[in-house]
Order: sequence, then structure tokens, then C-alpha cells
Amino acid sequence: MRSVPAARTRVRQSGRVVDALFARPRLAEVYDPLDPDRADLDAYVAMVEEFGAASVVDLGCGTGTLACRLAARGISVVGVDPAAASLAVARRKPAAEKIRWVHGDASAAAGLDADLVTMTGNVAQVFVDDEEWHATLEAIRAALGLGGRLVFETRDPARRAWEEWNRAATWQRVDVPGVGEVESWIDLTEVTLPLVSFRTRFVFHADGATLTSDSTLRFRDRTEVAASLTEAGFVIEDVRDAPDRPGREMVFVATTGLPPP
Ligand SMILES: C[S@@+](CC[C@H](N)C(=O)[O-])C[C@H]1O[C@@H](n2cnc3c(N)ncnc32)[C@H](O)[C@@H]1O
Repeated sequence: MRSVPAARTRVRQSGRVVDALFARPRLAEVYDPLDPDRADLDAYVAMVEEFGAASVVDLGCGTGTLACRLAARGISVVGVDPAAASLAVARRKPAAEKIRWVHGDASAAAGLDADLVTMTGNVAQVFVDDEEWHATLEAIRAALGLGGRLVFETRDPARRAWEEWNRAATWQRVDVPGVGEVESWIDLTEVTLPLVSFRTRFVFHADGATLTSDSTLRFRDRTEVAASLTEAGFVIEDVRDAPDRPGREMVFVATTGLPPP
């Protein structure tokens, strides 16, 4: 079996180092087939409706599943992601032509304008250092007018999700149309809280290639997330449970303040 050099497990794109999982074309192509159940996005579609948002920026949109679902409902959507390979997958989805796709990192949000910003799939955890997280919140705030909302999830560190990030709990083998059988699993590589690192391996049975992707995520507890939002000028409206993963995730709903009368 072939193995890619370790340096390729993360890829520099759009000024930012992105996990190979999202940035390497061969891996981005199997992102959706390996994780087809996106019931987690239902809560975000419902919140866009609940808050009457007509325009949404989906930050860290990845392969664009949420963005396309919203665009199909007539919402004006901008999808932002630094991984070009993920955006290429997104661009092929139904309703993708209605979306403005921005190849960039979170700083790109500052130049956009929306009623609501989403970060689904625990995107908030990719911002590992405080400076980067704060800059991201500032950029989002700049995109939202008064009365705008930021909705995002982050895993509750108290639930220690990383204890299930091992081969036994994550191994799967999926027959991907046009690609063949793909085996994948996660191995935990380091826990130095609040940072958790893991390696995802992919074996493509069509040619025996093994590709790996290294990731590091930051776990912030409720108090820490709340303090960072307040510091960036947001008001916390609610902290909800993710309906599909009760008790595991915190879904923050933050506003930029009351809209003008
Ligand atoms: C777990 S995926 C989630 C993708 C998508 N939101 C979903 O729910 O499927 C995390 C995404 O964050 C993106 N990402 C990584 N660094 C980023 C940054 N600095 N700014 C914005 N997005 C980033 C990755 O490229 C990847 O698409």
C-alpha cells in the first residue's frame, strides 16, 4: 500500500494550513459519502427560518451541504472555505449556482454582509489559538449588522468525545460510487487539553492508496466560549442542545445587539 508523506497530511491553501481531509481532492470527494447523514444541519435550517434571516454566510462551508439546502429555499447564501477541493465538490451540488463561493479563510467574512452567520460541523474548534478565534469572531461581527446572529456548535469538553476517536469506534468501509470501496478510521494522536489531535486514515481499495490527514481541534467549555463572544461584542441569546447529538454539543446563538427600531 502507498502512503503519502506526513507533510501532506495538512495542506497550505488560501494563506492557511488546512487538514488534508478537506483540502486534498481525493479526500474531499469522499467527505460526503463517508458521512452521509447530515441530520445535524436540520437545526440550522430551522434557525435560519426561526430568525427570519434572508441572507446567510456559511463560514467553513466545506462541501456546501448546508449552503445548498438554504439556497434551494430562496435564502441568499455566501459559502466561505479555505479548502479549494471542498469548494469544488460544493459547486457541483443542486442550487450551487445560486451561491457565491468564496475561497478564503474566516477573515474573508469581514468583507461580507449577512443577517446570520453559521459555523456547522464544529468549525469553531479549528481555531486553535485565542488570537485566531478572536479575529474570527471580529470578522463575523463585521459581516453582521445590528440584530444579526451568529449560530454555531462546539463539542462540550466535559463529554470527552476524543475517547471515542479510535479505530474500534470509528472504522468504516463504504462503497463509494465511482471511487470504489474506501476504508477509514481515526486514531487519537495527542491529548494536551484544550487541544486534541488525531489522524484520519483512508484506504482506497481501487488502487490500494492510503492517505492520511492530521487534525488538531480546540475544546472550549461553555464559560470560555461565552467570554470570547462577550469580548467580541456579541450578546448570548441562547445555548441550545444539538437535537441529533443531545448533551454532546453546545449550540450558541449570539446576536450583535438589538436592531434599530
Ligand atoms: C468539519 S469541516 C465542516 C464543514 C461544513 N461546515 C460541514 O458542516 O460539513 C471544517 C471546515 O472548516 C474549514 N476551515 C478550516 N480552517 C478554516 C478557517 N481558518 N476559516 C474558515 N474555515 C476553515 C475546513 O476547510 C473545513 O471545510
